[in-house]
Amino acid sequence: MLRSMTTRRAYQPIGVRCLSPNWFRSSRSSGRDTSTHGHRFRCRSTPSGLGAKGDDGGGARGYDKHARVIVVGGSGRVGGSTVRALRQLAGPGLELLVGGRSQRNFVKSVERWRTLPGADEEYDYSDVKFVELDLGDAASLASALDGCDLVVHTAGPFQRKTRPEVLEAAIAAKVPYVDVCDDARLATVAKALNEKAQEAGVSATISAGIWPGIDQLMAVEACEMLGGASEVESIDFSAYTAGTGNAGTTILSATFLILCEKVLGFKDGNEIFHEPASGFKKVDFGQSIGEKTRGMCTPAAWLTSTSGRCRCERQGSAVVLVASFTCNQVLGIPNISTYFGTSPEPWNYLLKGMTLLPDSIMGNRDLMQALAEFSEPLVRITDKLVGATNAMRLEAVAKDGRKAVLNYAHEDLEVCVGIATAAFVVATLRGDVRPGVWFPEEAFDDEAKRGLLFDDATRGAFMWERQEQGATAVEGAPL
Ligand SMILES: NC(=O)c1ccc[n+]([C@@H]2O[C@H](COP(=O)([O-])OP(=O)(O)OC[C@H]3O[C@@H](n4cnc5c(N)ncnc54)[C@H](OP(=O)(O)O)[C@@H]3O)[C@@H](O)[C@H]2O)c1
Repeated sequence: MLRSMTTRRAYQPIGVRCLSPNWFRSSRSSGRDTSTHGHRFRCRSTPSGLGAKGDDGGGARGYDKHARVIVVGGSGRVGGSTVRALRQLAGPGLELLVGGRSQRNFVKSVERWRTLPGADEEYDYSDVKFVELDLGDAASLASALDGCDLVVHTAGPFQRKTRPEVLEAAIAAKVPYVDVCDDARLATVAKALNEKAQEAGVSATISAGIWPGIDQLMAVEACEMLGGASEVESIDFSAYTAGTGNAGTTILSATFLILCEKVLGFKDGNEIFHEPASGFKKVDFGQSIGEKTRGMCTPAAWLTSTSGRCRCERQGSAVVLVASFTCNQVLGIPNISTYFGTSPEPWNYLLKGMTLLPDSIMGNRDLMQALAEFSEPLVRITDKLVGATNAMRLEAVAKDGRKAVLNYAHEDLEVCVGIATAAFVVATLRGDVRPGVWFPEEAFDDEAKRGLLFDDATRGAFMWERQEQGATAVEGAPL
């Protein structure tokens, strides 16, 4: 189980501890906006959706805009959103392929994309081609990747899998790779292919996306704000999604599968395991303004409003996040905890109740997929009622008591995970990721490259702010 997989000894060959703890300190002097204690800086409030910058994407700098990119699982919610985000971010020249088992699913997905709010009525996605493949059929994968300049793997669930077959195929075909894997165990198996990827000259970023993905880079930012990872005593991650965030059945089944796993945390540098969905607490996801708060604060009980501004608190409970694992292994942070909450409120208790079921039920991939499909109609109704907001909060505390807090929020998880994944793709096409298999913290250890990635990945977010507080903490306010 997770415990044996994540022992330090098991992790040694991966070699991710090679980062100098002072790396962050040195990168602070590179000229980007830097922080001063007690000052907040950089807050984004843009219209939602892609193209808020109204140009060629800003992120479409310096790479082959005619590259051929295949999105495995592109008929799904996350993969489809990645396809749409890539089209908008990189423009019409990019050749986009969708890999999956069923052409029918692909056709249905394209129909749905055309009816989503903000869809361009003129654009019918007829230039996006379907390629039949099955993860279990190595020959179909090899043939699909032939001639591609990059492969994105979004065909979850990743839980309970033991082989990173798409990454293996990418390395064999020498095709750069990005995945959205949200399972620490499988990510570790993928990470072990680092040397092979380096030998093949293949750049691969694993566990990219919004969370995991951007949350890990928020941790890197927080460390930098506090003077380097070696200065940081603890990191607290919290994530909130209203309903399923418009996600597909796969995320639902992945959530069920996660519920039977002990939650990995770190205390004084040692792994600790909590019961899943334990330790409920309220988390303040920051402030937002006016209508934007609606999706986030659906049940009135959680909403306290003053002068049109709203502070939103959510209940969360401990869950397995990849970031918990990588922040310790890559950045060396000794104390880490992770929380997740959802709405409507009873869902938190329903999920908690499910943890009481035996592992033989909760750990069965097929059964959980069937349960997710069975629940889908109810889930869709609930999503309509509560919205799809995705919010992340990261709080890092330095040894001297200073704090760095980063908040991100977007009104739709499905949309923002695609935007974030597309940002990782564009950065890889730009050549920003060196050969090897990397977690986001390693792939984007360069401040300038990370800054470009954040610019693309946070498009459409209605909150993107960083706050720094002195040793005597002062509550921040929105810019
Ligand atoms: N990193 C992040 O930020 C992040 C955030 C959210 C979710 N995720 C992860 O993203 C994954 C996808 O979620 P989703 O909501 O997009 O799920 P989804 O809507 O169910 O889509 C999954 C897609 O994978 C394809 N697929 C499944 N098994 C396959 C196989 N054996 N061979 C080929 N294609 C296969 C399916 O297409 P066909 O049925 O047509 O083959 C489907 O289009 C989940 O595992 C989730 O945990 C990551």
